[in-house]
Amino acid sequence: METLKLGIVGAGFITRFQARAIAQIRNMDIAGITSRTKAHAEAVAKEIREAGIGEAMVYDSVGEMANHVDAIAIYSPNFTRIEIMEKIVDAVQKGASLKGVICEKPLGRNMKEARRLVELADEANLRTAYFENQIFMKPIQSQLAQLTPQQKTMGPLVLTRSAEEHGGPHEPWFWDPTQQGGGVLSDMGCHSIAVGWYVLTPIGKPPTFLQPISVTAETSLLKWGLPEWRQKLLDRFGVDYSKTPAEDFATGMVTFRNPETGQISKAQFTDSWMFEKQGLRLFMDGMGPGYAFEVNTLRSTLEVFIGDEAADAIADAEMALEKATASRGLLAVQYNEADLYGYTDENKDAAAAFLAGKDGTLPWSYGLEITKLVMAAYLSAERRKTIDLTDTSVQQELETYVPLIQQGRGAEVLQVS
Ligand SMILES: NC(=O)c1ccc[n+]([C@@H]2O[C@H](COP(=O)([O-])OP(=O)(O)OC[C@H]3O[C@@H](n4cnc5c(N)ncnc54)[C@H](O)[C@@H]3O)[C@@H](O)[C@H]2O)c1
Repeated sequence: METLKLGIVGAGFITRFQARAIAQIRNMDIAGITSRTKAHAEAVAKEIREAGIGEAMVYDSVGEMANHVDAIAIYSPNFTRIEIMEKIVDAVQKGASLKGVICEKPLGRNMKEARRLVELADEANLRTAYFENQIFMKPIQSQLAQLTPQQKTMGPLVLTRSAEEHGGPHEPWFWDPTQQGGGVLSDMGCHSIAVGWYVLTPIGKPPTFLQPISVTAETSLLKWGLPEWRQKLLDRFGVDYSKTPAEDFATGMVTFRNPETGQISKAQFTDSWMFEKQGLRLFMDGMGPGYAFEVNTLRSTLEVFIGDEAADAIADAEMALEKATASRGLLAVQYNEADLYGYTDENKDAAAAFLAGKDGTLPWSYGLEITKLVMAAYLSAERRKTIDLTDTSVQQELETYVPLIQQGRGAEVLQVS
């Protein structure tokens, strides 16, 4: 079996998570790593080598790494994408023989950035994979396989509800709307909108088959705008939500039309950074005529109980669950989160595709469509109206639209207590 030699940009949270996923597949090795802080890259590279996931050579620059790997994954913060991609294109033009590029969600903070990334990959003739892990989740893929006969006989799903919720991100740049692109809608709404679109799509049709016709959404600041919680953000991350707030709650609805049958279907999404349970919860359900499915990642086959006296014995709550908020009581444990959340299978898909000279199941052009839906959701929340995606003037406006929250003007649309 051929193995894709991957070079990674960034040595933070998602790089470590993806390494745990790559350890579980056979067609990808981590051959290189580069990051803004070399010491971080060295530390992560050591872990990768010790776990037998690849040579993980540390490079001073992405341009240098491009000469020694087959593909590059961009796992650095959202605001660094274009600068990194320009360096990759430059390296290819100087002779680096890369096959493809992977980008974590979101592809861009707005459509202009996402479109620029698509153009840059085209310029360098690189295959692309946009990493939307939730579509690759085994529970999502299994419900599709299990319900294929029902779907074929009764018709596809008509309603789905998707949610990703936790208590808030781990690094300051996520909280800064100008750097990240907004609040939870930019950070996690992209997941819920994508998985909603995907599960509604009739079996055998491509991921963009259903036509999004309208988006309605709301954004709110419910917890982290309260004085004591704002203060915690200022103390811990240096971000001031009295000046540049971002939404910690977003909800909305995307309406789709089947271009062959005219059938209407709806994907409702809810995302929050103010979720007060054990840790991260992904929830999805779907209703078809006469059948349904439901996924809830807070339900595990493994639960542990840690009483008060034994609480100190647990060294790291995040060993049980991503974004865990408690280290005692009855705790849900997900012992293979990298696989549960779909990281394993998205890497396997990208490696197989690039080795065959193809794009991943979800190319960057798909990531651009997701960015468009997220932008339409921000526009809907700002204008307090439904956005009609079939209107060509709206399509045009979205191309250059930058949400007020992303501009650092969130105080004009969010209520800060
Ligand atoms: N699919 C998911 O569920 C998921 C989960 C977490 C993060 N992500 C995405 O992954 C990306 C990274 O998030 P994270 O949580 O790992 O962030 P992080 O802050 O934990 O790590 C970012 C890493 O990039 C490095 N970096 C910063 N600027 C750089 C630059 N200019 N060049 C090279 N390296 C640079 C940092 O030093 C750090 O090592 C984000 O785009 C985020 O949206 C996706």
